[in-house]
Amino acid sequence: MSRPPDVVYQVYPRSFQDADGDGVGDLAGIRSRLDHLVWLGVDALWLSPIYPSPMADFGYDVSDYTDIDPVFGDLAEFDRLVEDAHARGLRLLMDLVPCHTSIEHPWFREHPDWYIWADRPNNWVSAFGGSAWEARDDRYYLHSFYPEQPDLDWRNPELIAAMQDVLRFWLDRGTDGYRIDAIDRLLKDPKLRDDPPASEPYGLPLREDAAKLALTRSRNAPDTGEALAKIREACGDAFLIGEVYLPSARWQPYSDYFDAVFAFELLHTPWDAELVRGAIEATTRQRRAAWVMSNHDFGRLPSRFGPENARAAALILLTLPGTAFIYQGDEIGQGEGPGGDPPYDRAGRDTCRHPMQWDPSPTGGFTGGEPWLPLVDPERRSVEAQRDDPGSMLTFVRRLIALRRELGGDFELLDAADGVVAYRRGEHVVAVNTTSEPRPAPLRGEPRLETVHGVLRDGVLVAHSGAIGKD
Ligand code: NOJ
Repeated sequence: MSRPPDVVYQVYPRSFQDADGDGVGDLAGIRSRLDHLVWLGVDALWLSPIYPSPMADFGYDVSDYTDIDPVFGDLAEFDRLVEDAHARGLRLLMDLVPCHTSIEHPWFREHPDWYIWADRPNNWVSAFGGSAWEARDDRYYLHSFYPEQPDLDWRNPELIAAMQDVLRFWLDRGTDGYRIDAIDRLLKDPKLRDDPPASEPYGLPLREDAAKLALTRSRNAPDTGEALAKIREACGDAFLIGEVYLPSARWQPYSDYFDAVFAFELLHTPWDAELVRGAIEATTRQRRAAWVMSNHDFGRLPSRFGPENARAAALILLTLPGTAFIYQGDEIGQGEGPGGDPPYDRAGRDTCRHPMQWDPSPTGGFTGGEPWLPLVDPERRSVEAQRDDPGSMLTFVRRLIALRRELGGDFELLDAADGVVAYRRGEHVVAVNTTSEPRPAPLRGEPRLETVHGVLRDGVLVAHSGAIGKD
């Protein structure tokens, strides 16, 4: 397997940079902002889906796996983006959506047997609530997500071959790897038996109807490894990170075939030192953890952990051992917005998808047109305003990205004062005060850490957040 990237920057293409003035971000826009990523110090970018799509789930409903949606550009523009990224030493990861297509994908009409059908629904529920089955003619098709996203049958060899072609298509064009969507849904019980009632908590937040079920048959089937092996076979040693919505103790077989797995326990942990520590402890026991604390589904750092804790969260994200994924805008502590009215996303996720704030102008430098979602507060918060400010969140994040290359491989959680999370990375010690009040320093003789979150080496503070509570 290839060397994992160190820090990956998640680009949500609709909202990163618009180059053609239609109010929606595009590939030419992303290309024009690559220097920001280089300056920030990340070494890879992951593009949420850019394939043709009716956009019922903003690109996670793919209607053609081997083209670019016209709203984002075309294949020639994609090639230019790859070339420019590589010229700057950036790797580019695509988002592969293997578990379902759009209902408008020609495969759904031409190869209905590549999908999962039943004569009558079982009790499986969709990720967005309600039955996971939709009537079509005299049968029902499975949709683990929206009804516009029918599930593919990964036990069908023809489908597997078609998907392997897709994987090779983008690798041949220079893509360096994939973030693989919803992979724990790849294989389900072939007999489509009901999910039994839950007898213990799932370990990650679920909607109310899903939490009542053990979810042992509707996902994560025992033979999943066979399908993962086919994905790996097509990808050679390209970097693969799985979106596996399972507690880390259940990461196998995903961690056997992929280079990294998103650590959702930490992302979902309430801001409490004991719980944060527990999530880190559980996850670092497993191989291949990649850290993520915000994204286009679950919200932004300031809303997940409180604006006053966004810097502390970034400090944790960027100093744990393993690849870190940072969501666009989190480097400036961008907050959430009201979303669309009426909402674009039925599951309520518009709020964390507002456009990137590059400068203090009303459209934030994002577009010359009317932005598809309004900017949140560019006059308060933007890349331009924070770039040269030594006390800004952006400066802190950039410093941490530079510093993490010096952090040693040995990792050890340390005993610390109440409310403090502290750990050692080789010669460095990271300490985060999860309370909003001064706390005794985690290590004797280090009084400066009473009032800031920071990284120490030999008792010297080499990076710090500024006063705790600063947003
Ligand atoms: C996870 C993606 O991150 C999310 O945005 C999408 O709705 C589901 N998978 C379904 O593809």
